[in-house]
Amino acid sequence: MSLQAYITQAFQRRFGQPPAFVVRAPGRVNLIGEHTDYNDGFVLPMAIDRAVWIALRPRPDSRVLVHSLDLDRSAQFSLLGLHYEDAGWVEYVKGVAWALQQAGYQLTGWEGVLAGDVPRGAGLSSSAAVELATARAFQVVSGFPWDPPLMARLGQKAENQWVGMNCGIMDQMISAAGEADHALLIDCRSLATTSVPLPPGAVVVILDTATRRGLVDSAYNERRAQCEAAARYFGVPALRDMSMERFAAEAGGLDAVTMRRARHVISENERTLAAAGAMQAGNAVELGLLMDASHVSMRDDFEISGPALNIMVECAQEEPGCFGARMTGGGFAGCAVALVEADMAQTFAANVAARYRARAGLTPALYVSTASAGASIEQ
Ligand code: GLA
Repeated sequence: MSLQAYITQAFQRRFGQPPAFVVRAPGRVNLIGEHTDYNDGFVLPMAIDRAVWIALRPRPDSRVLVHSLDLDRSAQFSLLGLHYEDAGWVEYVKGVAWALQQAGYQLTGWEGVLAGDVPRGAGLSSSAAVELATARAFQVVSGFPWDPPLMARLGQKAENQWVGMNCGIMDQMISAAGEADHALLIDCRSLATTSVPLPPGAVVVILDTATRRGLVDSAYNERRAQCEAAARYFGVPALRDMSMERFAAEAGGLDAVTMRRARHVISENERTLAAAGAMQAGNAVELGLLMDASHVSMRDDFEISGPALNIMVECAQEEPGCFGARMTGGGFAGCAVALVEADMAQTFAANVAARYRARAGLTPALYVSTASAGASIEQ
């Protein structure tokens, strides 16, 4: 059964009538451009065919009642006085309500059920999917226009200031603005997007290492601080404003760690722009090589890979039909992504899974993913 049918039936059982609306917002996989978003740089993610869904109806009062089918937990709150309560998943819902109110939107209450198939903590942006599905839910009951970049900014604000995770804009932006069958080159300074098709004959395979990140907020914030320190050293607003030529000429006075962090971000921005060009030219080989180089840069310079991710990437790169592979997302655990010849994808997935199981002693999940549209109203 599709998630849409499942969630519609669950709503019907709970409320005794069909939902007024069904909305969804996808998770994402980033093809290239990692830890560049908070440096005002470029990213190249695609929205995946896994999403968070909400079936709902408006309420005549200012309350929000939501039941998570995945967790079998209910939560409710009033829009008239939002408070952070450290209540887990519902804080993402509340945080979006708060950010929308801060932006001046008059919100209508609603009640509904929520479910999703974006694995949590895997680096596929399940929290951004909850945020954008929530924004869509408020939009459809409250009747304001849908503006993807603005909704992405408000989702990010919820995450930064309500939940307390200091993420960049990539995850919310692709969940809001994704396009079917395309990746999006996002300029994280202007939020201008360019949609680029996947190279013909190639598919994207998500390789979940079955490891989950622990407390990595501190490592993330440390990377941000190092990037900001490097930008100050070079005298630029953000590392986005640096070229590799200028880096080579001026980096000599940086300490070794900050130098490596900056080199990752500056070179990754250049790779990301080159990758978008390769996709526009339909060149899967070139895109794959850039993904391989991105992994090396994350592993050695930015130091955000991990043993399981490195094993997975090696297993993928060894397999015939693989154009390229890299870890994806925030890092340390979770998923890698590979670009694979379409007609070899099934054999690729089976062989890489077996090899990874033998080497890492863990059972991975591998799936071919198509690129889907951003947050939408499905009913
Ligand atoms: C996490 C953050 C994003 C981005 C990536 C790394 O997914 O939420 O904003 O910084 O890490 O590219």
